[in-house]
Amino acid sequence: MADIALAVIGGTGVYRLADLQDVETRVLDTRFGAPSGPVRIGTLEGRRVAFLARHGEGHSVPPHQVNYRANLQVLKDIGATRVLALNTVGGITDAYGPRVLACPDQLIDYTWGRISTICEEPGSDVLHVDFGDPYTHLLRRQVVDAARACGVELVDGGCYGATQGPRLETRAEIRRMRRDGCDLVGMTGMPEAGLAREMGLEYACLAIVANWAAGCGTDEEITMDEVLANVAAASAGIPALIAAVARG
Ligand code: HPA
Repeated sequence: MADIALAVIGGTGVYRLADLQDVETRVLDTRFGAPSGPVRIGTLEGRRVAFLARHGEGHSVPPHQVNYRANLQVLKDIGATRVLALNTVGGITDAYGPRVLACPDQLIDYTWGRISTICEEPGSDVLHVDFGDPYTHLLRRQVVDAARACGVELVDGGCYGATQGPRLETRAEIRRMRRDGCDLVGMTGMPEAGLAREMGLEYACLAIVANWAAGCGTDEEITMDEVLANVAAASAGIPALIAAVARG
């Protein structure tokens, strides 16, 4: 089988990759245990692309219980070297309203109690990987260029704040995150990005803004219906964007 040009991890509301052809399903285990579900490997405009639903295809795994290590390891085991993470998020600052797509360049980790390294096993080397730029420069550039090439509007940059969930944040928590410099808030950006760095994977985030974060934009209650409707609307250009990144 040809090499995997790109692996994609789908977030809330993205459980399959539309347009993936000749899909082969692999149910695999890893040295870190089971991933969230099967890996679907198929062809997208002539390139082999792998897809994994982060929360499981039925959205049954909450953010703090995702086996992030197994999810990345399974993609590495099938030969992927580049991972594009789709993350459904709330928007905090003005440029990041609902239905915006963004490719953040920074993050702040507010999560706790998650396994956040591959070097926990006794005897394994302790890694202190450089993480000044948490997303790989090259893959970020490819995402930004691909969006431009296929006419998909995308905000280049921004700071992703990763919260514990699964509840949404209080207004005060979001005020603090805004003061900290966060533009986006989601529950799954970490430890995934840090683990990808430890595993030597190229990794970038395509954030899909589903709602204004608490107290931002509008004062309305955030509902799951709103989140899913906005993700669906914002996702229209994503298959073309992924195909362009896979070609890059
Ligand atoms: N907060 C955290 N995670 C999210 C949000 C939010 O407002 N929207 C979608 N994922």
